[in-house]
Amino acid sequence: MIYNIAIDGPAGAGKSTIARRVAKELAFVYVDTGAMYRAMALYLIRSGAGKEDVKEFGRLCQGADISIEYREGEQTVILNGENVTPLLRTEEVGNMASVSSADPKVREKLLDLQRKLAASMSVVMDGRDIGTTILPDADVKIYLTASSQKRAERRYKELTEKGISCCLDEIRRDIEERDRRDMNREISPLRQAEDAVLVDSSDMTIEEVTKRILQICCEKFSLSDREQKK
Ligand code: DC
Repeated sequence: MIYNIAIDGPAGAGKSTIARRVAKELAFVYVDTGAMYRAMALYLIRSGAGKEDVKEFGRLCQGADISIEYREGEQTVILNGENVTPLLRTEEVGNMASVSSADPKVREKLLDLQRKLAASMSVVMDGRDIGTTILPDADVKIYLTASSQKRAERRYKELTEKGISCCLDEIRRDIEERDRRDMNREISPLRQAEDAVLVDSSDMTIEEVTKRILQICCEKFSLSDREQKK
């Protein structure tokens, strides 16, 4: 039996942390679709494109071959034969991904890969359009969000803990700008699917959110706690 769980939501809502934990508990595979858009963004940057070169994205992206491998249970993104996973989490790549993911050709190139992964195994897939476009028949759909202030505070903490100096206001502005782009693009904009369960993590811990989502999944799959991996 293959199960698909879709988790969508804005940048910084904790999707990847939560999706990874939920996947581990259920012994499903975690699929991070944002990383695929980031790999495409990296390819465009390397091709010399800037955020303003929107007219070039459709043509340039044809040269990118993106695939996914699982190494020790972790998703690895391969761009034209190179493992680019460690290069994807920068602000530059994230901002470029937010702009280039609005291009229909970029989305078309990644849609098949995402659907094939979900058809071949039980997955927890996170992104922006998983419940609305990629997996409209997903067994469970979650829309995970939090206030932009809370999301900015979490990002600020994460960066300062890594010793990276940053400005909270700037991070919040960046997050709001990214929300605006992701929610207002013409193709597959970020929005809550009609049948998605809304989870607002603003005042919840990671453990609480994980527990809530597992509860929703268990109700849906009629799995007892013992049937979960742990
Ligand atoms: O989740 P993330 O920050 O890694 O995603 C980076 C960008 O990729 C995000 O701003 C929008 C885009 N994206 C998308 O359009 N659709 C997805 N399913 C996942 C990400």
